[in-house]
Amino acid sequence: MIDVDDVQPTGLARLPWRKPMPPEQSEPLAQEILTLKKKLNAVILAHNYQVPEIQDVADFVGDSLGLSQQAAGTDADVIVFCGVHFMAETAKILNPDKIVVLPDKDAGCSLEQSCPAPKLAKLQATNPNFYTVTYINCSAEVKALSDVICTSGNAVKIVNASPKDRDLLFVPDENLGAWVMEQTGQPMTLWRGNCYAHVEFRRDNLLRLRKELPDAKIVVHPESLREVRDLADEVCSTEKMIAYCKTNLAKRFVIVTESGIIHRLKKECPDKEFFCAPVFDVMKMPTDNCRCSECKYMKMNTLEKVRDCMKNLAPRIELPADIIRRARLPIERMLEISARPLENAG
Ligand code: 13P
Ligand code: SF4
Repeated sequence: MIDVDDVQPTGLARLPWRKPMPPEQSEPLAQEILTLKKKLNAVILAHNYQVPEIQDVADFVGDSLGLSQQAAGTDADVIVFCGVHFMAETAKILNPDKIVVLPDKDAGCSLEQSCPAPKLAKLQATNPNFYTVTYINCSAEVKALSDVICTSGNAVKIVNASPKDRDLLFVPDENLGAWVMEQTGQPMTLWRGNCYAHVEFRRDNLLRLRKELPDAKIVVHPESLREVRDLADEVCSTEKMIAYCKTNLAKRFVIVTESGIIHRLKKECPDKEFFCAPVFDVMKMPTDNCRCSECKYMKMNTLEKVRDCMKNLAPRIELPADIIRRARLPIERMLEISARPLENAG
């Protein structure tokens, strides 16, 4: 059973989330990490889903877009990437001469797995007019086959900026792709991949939670199913969730994404209450188990593994030069479009 934090105060919504490692364990490790960071001239980048104690030692915590922007701009010699494999690969593609380490080399992603490069190449060969817009949650090989990369934070902008005379192929997340189609009105061919964690959220569970918390705003990640997105007050990336909860006047929020983000939300909005959405039928679950959503890949990284990967400079991300060269172009295109003011994005 995992170690969990405060059980939420309502009847049905008794959903505990992970509490940070006790300070007597985390502080000596954090000290070691700090010393190694100075010695290596390293930067620690962490995704919003990482465990609290990793977020607390990071130089930057954010979404996939923020993390790739940070990776593109860093002058550190070593990038310690606390996230999943495709994110560390993106950092390596943007920094071929730097050392990029990932605490656990097996930290993958179900979206990445759903889209093998040879299968994508085969589909692309069926239509020479395809313009491939690829969600960043994919392998470096798939990026190398893409015209442009996007994240959940900029997918609408990227699709709006895509050539109007091309047939858009969106890979690999069918739920994000469907949401982008709704937002832009652009028809797209969708790859049939999904995030195994986000598709666990269901409308019925959320409706019950909404009945219990009628004043709470529902904030949903676009990797979720349409039946869930349709109940949302806001659909957005993890970074935009933080901004939304900070600026919205509401005091309570139901967060429909991986529960690691609750740590940052609680830190940045101490006067507000957050409830993670249940992933199973909450009526049938025993009360002492964690029932909020966790990505098993994101949670493979631990503070000990962060220390170890800095000590050993391994596991290290290595990619063939040709893949780096080809994958870099669509990532740079994304970063350039993302930086444009909205009125010039098209
Ligand atoms: P964000 O870019 O919104 O943080 O999403 C990353 C991710 O993997 C969502 O599951
Ligand atoms: Fe991949 Fe889903 Fe985990 Fe995000 S939450 S890294 S999309 S498996």
